[in-house]
Amino acid sequence: MSKKLWGGRFTGKTDPMMEKFNASIGFDRQLWRVDIQGSQSYARALARIGLLTSTEAEQIIDGLDRVAAEWAAGEFVLVDGDEDIHTANERRLTELIGQVAGKLHTGRSRNDQVATDLRLWLKEEISHLRSHLRQLIDVVVERASEEIDLIMPGYTHLQPAQPVRWSHWLLSHAWAWQRDAQRLDELAVRVNVMPLGSGALAGNPFPIDRVALAAELGFGDITYNSMDGVSDRDFAAEFLFWATLTMVHLSRLAEDLIIFSSYEYRFVTLADAYSTGSSLMPQKKNPDALELLRGKSGRVMGHMTGLMAILKGLPSTYNKDLQEDKEPLFDAVASLSGSLQIATGVLSTLTVNPAIMRAALTTEMLATDLAEYLVRKGVPFRETHHIAGAAVQMAELQGVSLSELSLADLQKLHGAFEEDVREVWSFERSVERRDVDGGTSLRAVLAQIVRLRRWLAGGEEG
Ligand code: ARG
Repeated sequence: MSKKLWGGRFTGKTDPMMEKFNASIGFDRQLWRVDIQGSQSYARALARIGLLTSTEAEQIIDGLDRVAAEWAAGEFVLVDGDEDIHTANERRLTELIGQVAGKLHTGRSRNDQVATDLRLWLKEEISHLRSHLRQLIDVVVERASEEIDLIMPGYTHLQPAQPVRWSHWLLSHAWAWQRDAQRLDELAVRVNVMPLGSGALAGNPFPIDRVALAAELGFGDITYNSMDGVSDRDFAAEFLFWATLTMVHLSRLAEDLIIFSSYEYRFVTLADAYSTGSSLMPQKKNPDALELLRGKSGRVMGHMTGLMAILKGLPSTYNKDLQEDKEPLFDAVASLSGSLQIATGVLSTLTVNPAIMRAALTTEMLATDLAEYLVRKGVPFRETHHIAGAAVQMAELQGVSLSELSLADLQKLHGAFEEDVREVWSFERSVERRDVDGGTSLRAVLAQIVRLRRWLAGGEEG
């Protein structure tokens, strides 16, 4: 039977069910690379204070390289008793280099080790996610630039409201993702802190240089309280909130596109690459990619809530509950990575149907513009709103569209209507009038594109 890390005072056998229940190797094996990286740096830190000779340190570091090579080649063989990734790596190291391996864990605990591993791992994943997110924003910005002339109905309450540029709609999602990108960079600073050297809870009894160790591992700072260091999972909670909010944004994009691609709208057509057919109904093309984005947002939200519930009642420092932090985090990272890339694929391949979009615009969506026309003639807005409403009703009664009302009819509603009211009935003019910063005019949308491009290029504006 293999020797347990904590086996010294335990004589009774572990219930085999308990063995399984306790084990995290099934999922924390994902941490193999960062676990080895952390151990190699820790060996160097021990050598610097003379707790390992340089030969011993070399043996350990080379041995860990060989363990890493086995993982990388898919040749690492797990054995019974490999409770978690830390246990498994040390067990294998001992087999490869013998008893000197037993010196590696000097002053260290799995408590500070696992907290360090998780942060190292998340740091790397965050940099991948950051580039996926930027890619997504980039695709949307370029698309917005190319299709800037398209005008579509804008909705509130899912009711046709006012004409907007299609690009304005596209960019409305890009801005949410830009905030997500900023938020990710902000929280990355708090992930980038090293707990190693906290020991089990009270601190490392040997004078290792934690600052040098942190620098070697690429951390920006160290934790300053060992009890906090081993138990702090705020970085994971914060990341999961970020993941949830980002998924909520993707889900809202998905919902818009599910509606816009439906048969009744047909503003856009999804590429075959991101849709599937029905096994029963040959005419169908289903927006599966989008539905999965919407569905996965619920799943990630569940992970965030789950971790919060795990943390809520914990007494100070390390408790085994914390082992449950990993699966939500791993799954959230995988879900985000997939979702961001799929959303990018969907948005770069869908086609727009300008004629259908155009046909969906009705002059009723210019009722506000009609009211604004009167405002420009000096009539107070409250009154104009009422008059435009009466015009809508009059058109309805006559069974014509708003723009078909005669000047004489309009003048019955208010004397300020003149010949030039004709100019109200242009969707282009309507969007162009909304020329404030942040509006949907050509100038205002181009300005958004410039700003986002500058931000993407690395300028901090945004
Ligand atoms: N597998 C454990 C975890 O993921 C490692 C830390 C174990 N520490 C302990 N004192 N049992 O949290």
